[in-house]
Amino acid sequence: MKTCILKISGDREKDDRIIEEAGRIIKEGGLVAVPTETVYGLAGDALNPGSSRKIYEAKGRPSDNPLIVHIARLKDLETIACDIPDTAYALAIAYWPGPLTMVLKKKDIVPKETTGGLDTVAVRYPVNEIMQRVIKSAGGFIAAPSANRSGRPSCTNADHCAEDLNGRIDMIIDGGEAGIGLESTVLDLTGERPVILRHGYIDKAMIERVTGPVDVETVATEKPRAPGMKYRHYAPKGELTLVSGKAEKAARKILELSAGHADNGGKTAVICAHEHAALYEGAQGISLYDAGSLNDEDTIAHRLFSVLRELDEEECRYIYSECFDTPRLGQAIMDRLTRAAGGRIIRL
Ligand code: TXA
Ligand code: MG
Repeated sequence: MKTCILKISGDREKDDRIIEEAGRIIKEGGLVAVPTETVYGLAGDALNPGSSRKIYEAKGRPSDNPLIVHIARLKDLETIACDIPDTAYALAIAYWPGPLTMVLKKKDIVPKETTGGLDTVAVRYPVNEIMQRVIKSAGGFIAAPSANRSGRPSCTNADHCAEDLNGRIDMIIDGGEAGIGLESTVLDLTGERPVILRHGYIDKAMIERVTGPVDVETVATEKPRAPGMKYRHYAPKGELTLVSGKAEKAARKILELSAGHADNGGKTAVICAHEHAALYEGAQGISLYDAGSLNDEDTIAHRLFSVLRELDEEECRYIYSECFDTPRLGQAIMDRLTRAAGGRIIRL
């Protein structure tokens, strides 16, 4: 299949044509990678079981891992979900459109293929204007997982989508960099208390301000409520190890471990905060990846997936990363990094 890559230019007429074409492809059962404010999504018709099957196939994703349904009008929520609690409306008023996904009881109109066999549906109303227009042009309900091949880091730009999905989908809309760079917060609202299933830009405190106390699904459960959380994720091809502890101590440990790899020819890479780059200056055989300043956690979040992809391009064999326990997004960042490292962590 030939994948056409079309760039949003700001020329209203041309952009309208791209959006219309994307809508037509999706309505006919095809797939289009579309930018959102979090990461790029792989969009198909959420109400068409055949489209969802195609999404799983294109991504190489296990079909028990449910897809998020994206809407572009609040009232469309009631077409696909039932028994919607008041907290869902309160959260929608506070954070929609935006990077919050709510898990609710589904209506029959949503095929089980889209929800991985579950009787719940995850719903998000994204703020990105291109995505909103594609949703409307495609009929209102778009299933869109992150547009990466299963197991790879999510895509924050159109080049990443092409790397993973060129030849496997109909179209990629290039709308520039995804602003946030981490996927949405997933919140389960089907129980007594809301439960965070995946950390994201809308953090626990922001949710609790609206709903009162919320629980957090622990990462280690064998049968997680967000089925996607049990799969290996984001992992670079090299062996990534996280090192937790004071920056100076972590640097000493990383330099010592890297020296041990110097003889067998494997490239070593280090991911660290901008402020700590000097600790690695002059070290032989290490490529340094500056994740951004600790005073700017948005940038660290934004760069994370790009850095993980670059490590593959550079064929880094051993990778060490500092831990980024930043105030608001630290949990979301560390959740992705811990998964990418397959849980490998050295605590000093
Ligand atoms: O920011 C985002 O959420 C991006 C953009 C494209 O919107 N989408 C995204 O989708 O990250 P995906 O499929 O890569 O991740 C969805 C996560 C998975 O961990 C999945 O298991 C969980 O949400 N999920 C989806 N539906 C669910 C449901 N009904 N119950 C529990 N978890 C669900
Ligand atoms: Mg994903």
